[in-house]
Amino acid sequence: MSGKKWKLLEPIQVGTMKLKNRIVYPPIENLFNNADGSVSDDLIAYYEKRARGGVGMIIVQNSHVDLKASRSAICQLSVASHHMIAGLNKLAETIKSYGAGALIQMGHGGRQTSPDSMPGIDNVAPSPIPSKAVGVIPRELTVPEIVEIEDAFAEAAVRAQMAGFDGAEIHSAHGYLLCQFISPESNVRTDEYGGTFENRCRFALNIVRKVREAVGENFTVGFRFSGDEYIEGGLSQEEGMQYAKVIADTNKIDYIHVSAATYDSFPHLFPVMYYDRGHMQHLSSGVKSVVKNIPVISVGSYNVQVAEQALQAGDADLISIGRGIIADPDLPNKLAAGEVEDIRPCVLGNEGCITRIFSWIPIGCEVNPEVGKERFWEKTPAPIKKKVMIAGGGVAGIEAARVAALRGHDVTLYEKSGELGGHLIEASVPKFKGPVKDLLEWCVLQTKKGTFKVQMKTEVTKRLLEKEKPEVLVIAVGSQFCVPEADGCECINGRDVLLGKAKMGKKVIVIGGGIVGCETALYLAEEFGAQATVVEQLDDILIGMEGMNRTVLIERLEAAKVEIRTGLKLVEIKEDGVVCTNDSGNVEIKGDSVVGCTGVYPDTKTVESLQGIVPETYVIGDAADHYKIYHAFYDAHEAVMRM
Ligand SMILES: Cc1cc2nc3c(=O)[nH]c(=O)nc-3n(C[C@H](O)[C@H](O)[C@H](O)COP(=O)(O)OP(=O)(O)OC[C@H]3O[C@@H](n4cnc5c(N)ncnc54)[C@H](O)[C@@H]3O)c2cc1C
Ligand SMILES: Cc1cc2nc3c(=O)[nH]c(=O)nc-3n(C[C@H](O)[C@H](O)[C@H](O)COP(=O)(O)O)c2cc1C
Ligand code: SF4
Repeated sequence: MSGKKWKLLEPIQVGTMKLKNRIVYPPIENLFNNADGSVSDDLIAYYEKRARGGVGMIIVQNSHVDLKASRSAICQLSVASHHMIAGLNKLAETIKSYGAGALIQMGHGGRQTSPDSMPGIDNVAPSPIPSKAVGVIPRELTVPEIVEIEDAFAEAAVRAQMAGFDGAEIHSAHGYLLCQFISPESNVRTDEYGGTFENRCRFALNIVRKVREAVGENFTVGFRFSGDEYIEGGLSQEEGMQYAKVIADTNKIDYIHVSAATYDSFPHLFPVMYYDRGHMQHLSSGVKSVVKNIPVISVGSYNVQVAEQALQAGDADLISIGRGIIADPDLPNKLAAGEVEDIRPCVLGNEGCITRIFSWIPIGCEVNPEVGKERFWEKTPAPIKKKVMIAGGGVAGIEAARVAALRGHDVTLYEKSGELGGHLIEASVPKFKGPVKDLLEWCVLQTKKGTFKVQMKTEVTKRLLEKEKPEVLVIAVGSQFCVPEADGCECINGRDVLLGKAKMGKKVIVIGGGIVGCETALYLAEEFGAQATVVEQLDDILIGMEGMNRTVLIERLEAAKVEIRTGLKLVEIKEDGVVCTNDSGNVEIKGDSVVGCTGVYPDTKTVESLQGIVPETYVIGDAADHYKIYHAFYDAHEAVMRM
């Protein structure tokens, strides 16, 4: 799409704001605020970086509206008291100073407030039905309490207005209190706030009316909801569309923001790598078909290409790009400058952002270690320019070369093979690994910019180091596939299978139920119609994998009819299958091909051969016994910041 005119970059009127483009940074909890819910310098720096990156509008994260039960998590940002206004003002002014619209999301946790994070909190809801994820039976709200919460939203909106925000967004998505009232699964009240669809809408409609009355016309009010809860008995897409229409028909709202899911259907809320990009486009499309008077925002694993297609198809008027802008805050500016390929892609692994929030740690990012360190990890020039040699052109080595060059060092990257990318090359082969393929392409592009030298087909050896005499050596030589221990025939290496270098039969046995084994089995089943069996010696597969991606990968394995055999240790590889053992004895599994995916091991031999020669030496990525994209990036940055 280079050279094209992007609809994403067209201005649009939303409420009181004339936005410079249609790219929205949606509300994203980050835990950078102070523990009392006030704004911190880290929070301002985080949003400043994203506003500077050219986004049209920023909706600041979910903020609690009262000092009672609305606070859904410890350390949540607050619009619950006038004490917060001064800090919020600094934040709003910072965002607006870069020409971005500044909004803040207002929410109430209801039954999803976790007792782990808020001990002693009065867990309230429309009805005493627990969310599966939280497991606490909430107390049913009385009508006077409901009215008090409605008023609290209006008071919070006034505080946001006083703080200088352009607007506020009412949070009726993701299983929080407003979502609980509209959902037939969580609202079984028999009074005017429950039962019929009209009654279930009442809480939201009252909040909308009260907020608008409180802030007047000169303030943008948005409404976010889950267009499908993806839970049994919950709000369906059809009823969600009716809900959106009822809210829009009040003419008191300036936009509708269509998200999805609750805590009980997380993979849809933070769409994972194994779903297609634009995961919720059909939901905003449905809302567009019934809401004609105000703009509709779509969200869900969009990159700029899929976002543009959604706008062109008329399925939305604006697109929220959340994790994409965590991964690359300069996404909008790069798009405007025609540098689309240079946008660092989010890989949808969830391992740096939401997973850390689940452990009450501020967000990071698998591919962007500067997240949260905006104030002190800017790539400032190094005090002393050094000659840096980097051994290994995988993701870790390339990232180290990129940032070392940015800091002004004289850098050469050496790759012993004829191809850059290391394990990302085979990792990105299956169609379902599109985001990793995007990352591979981004990495390779970084090597073509001329900011550092690249020597292909050159192995870094002791002799080369003694000849070149670098001041700094970064060892990023990666890892090798393990060979399963067994008698009999040799098995095929998983890497060769993914790279299409091995001749495969129809009935395949994959040894190893980790990510690589399960993905290889899925790839063979989905793309070649193979009848695949995964054999794992532990009692479960995918142990330690990020939970949401794991759930969806297992669903896909089931759909592709991949057979999973756990608790079986490989003993022998035969011409026609394998022999395994468990407590009950030997088990034979028949198959035409046997593939080994029992993990990787760091290339310790090479690492050791290169150590002790250069005064300043760092070992990073898989070579340092770290086996994730996340570690490759963090190790690279940490090494370079110390140079
Ligand atoms: C199939 C598969 C799927 C995966 N999926 C994911 C995923 O979804 N998410 C995730 O986080 N991680 C995933 N991983 C893991 C991830 O790909 C790796 O952790 C990461 O790519 C390691 O990068 P690296 O640069 O440290 O090492 P490598 O990728 O191993 O790169 C090392 C490079 O160094 C070169 N080299 C070796 N010795 C020398 C030398 N002496 N001189 C010069 N060059 C040398 C090698 O040729 C290679 O190109 C996956 C891995 C596999 C195999
Ligand atoms: C770390 C994290 C925190 C989030 N916090 C919020 C929040 O405070 N309010 C909200 O409505 N959505 C929240 N979301 C959901 C995002 O707004 C967005 O809908 C989701 O990330 C999918 O969009 P994306 O694929 O573009 O990231 C959060 C998402 C992430 C990853
Ligand atoms: S941590 Fe992973 S999923 Fe989250 S923004 Fe970064 S790349 Fe995307």
